[in-house]
Amino acid sequence: MDEILSAAVDAAKAAGAIALHYFRTNLTVETKADRTPVTKADRECETKITDLLSARFPAYGFLGEELGERPGSVNTRWIVDPIDGTKNFIRGIPFFATLIALEEAGEVTAGVMYAPAINDLLYARKGRGAFANGQQVKVSDVQELRDAMLIHGGLKDLKVRPCWEPFLQLVERTARQRGFGDALGHSVVISGHAEVALEPEVKPWDLAATKILVTEAGGRFSDFAGTDSIYTGSAVVSNGRVHDAVVNILQGR
Ligand code: IPD
Ligand code: CA
Ligand code: CA
Repeated sequence: MDEILSAAVDAAKAAGAIALHYFRTNLTVETKADRTPVTKADRECETKITDLLSARFPAYGFLGEELGERPGSVNTRWIVDPIDGTKNFIRGIPFFATLIALEEAGEVTAGVMYAPAINDLLYARKGRGAFANGQQVKVSDVQELRDAMLIHGGLKDLKVRPCWEPFLQLVERTARQRGFGDALGHSVVISGHAEVALEPEVKPWDLAATKILVTEAGGRFSDFAGTDSIYTGSAVVSNGRVHDAVVNILQGR
């Protein structure tokens, strides 16, 4: 593991320890301007990550969900989601994760996903493969949509957006559908246990680590239109083999 990954893993583990300290306690839940929930655990985790990474890489900037954007003195920044899956976290469901990625000149080149309550650690560095709990992982070999497991993060999230009809077509055309939200839904694709995960409404910090992880695992990442960007608000995370078929259906082609 190089210096970047080892720093990001250390920071994710430190944040994970904070999240676990608060997990299943009587935390006050606040509602942000975008009407999503947040707790002091989210903020403390992001502060810890920022403190640790800025001590080791003082020139790098940050884009974080809770603390916002802080420019550095070079064109490299950390993209941080301190607790991905806050809705699970506050309900006592153990599927939540800290996400940390490095973006260099606009390209995500490293990513860490750490789910402390299930002790699941994934990391990837550009050109060096993706690893889960120390073992290299690859996406699945499933070639056809009819054999694919389709992951979604919630039915209403799809229903309130203009992608419900394409989603129903995907339901018809895939073998099985499961509602695993957040990082868990991405990690099962990265590790080869499912073929495609859909995210209709996401931010860059939800996606940066996943993008490099799935790419290094041999899969593909795009938005619903097929564009390779974490900034356009939606995501298709796949094993690559079924990617074009999924995007074509989402685009009504
Ligand atoms: C959420 C997750 C989820 C996505 C939601 C996000 P949070 O992040 O990334 O997969 O569907 O839109 O808000 O708020 O739990 O960090
Ligand atoms: Ca998130
Ligand atoms: Ca979050």
